[in-house]
Amino acid sequence: MADIAELRARNADFWARAAQGWIRQADRHDALGRPLGKVALEALRLEPGERVLDVGCGCGGTTAELAAMVMPGGLAVGLDLSEAMVAAATQRFPGLTFVDADIEAPGPVAGSPFDAVFSRMTLMLLPDPVAGLRNIRELMRPGGRLAATVFRASAANPWLSATVLGVAPHVGALPPLPVGAEPGPFAFADPAYVKRVLADAGFR
Ligand SMILES: C[S@@+](CC[C@H](N)C(=O)[O-])C[C@H]1O[C@@H](n2cnc3c(N)ncnc32)[C@H](O)[C@@H]1O
Repeated sequence: MADIAELRARNADFWARAAQGWIRQADRHDALGRPLGKVALEALRLEPGERVLDVGCGCGGTTAELAAMVMPGGLAVGLDLSEAMVAAATQRFPGLTFVDADIEAPGPVAGSPFDAVFSRMTLMLLPDPVAGLRNIRELMRPGGRLAATVFRASAANPWLSATVLGVAPHVGALPPLPVGAEPGPFAFADPAYVKRVLADAGFR
């Protein structure tokens, strides 16, 4: 596996280049992603008045859903690495708070400590997931809750290999897909690994 600094540079570069496509398809991503995040959203059991952080919020659709659940009196903050997506989220949902930051080095986040943290399809992309999750824990109050969704193994997710095969004739060969626990869509496919990462980050 490449070293952490190189993986971080690759991740930041990937999302900087992907941002415009995500922004163009923001409504579609919200619709496609809603069923994927539903179980985690419900598991958080948010209540009006609570403060919740949305890690890897993209163009803000999930942050808006979280905000509706904690109102009145609560706060939902979206955090994302991509400056362009944070700008798009701010434009799509004026009145909500969005922060442009890397969860592996977030600095102070307005609204912390949070009662709960939500994250849809992001944590497995982190180059150093223990560092990212430790920061998430530190942004939460003692006893706060974390609920996140990640993908299962690639065999259960043929959408990626089908896409790679489908586009290859048009764009040529693509870089190899990440394997095992290398950051990427399927890095959190093994529940035992996820439990270890969470424990190393200080979660119970
Ligand atoms: C697969 S997208 C998911 C977006 C959104 N949660 C959704 O479900 O539609 C992953 C998101 O995580 C963000 N991201 C990746 N690495 C991050 C990091 N280290 N810190 C904060 N956000 C990150 C990306 O910019 C991107 O918006």
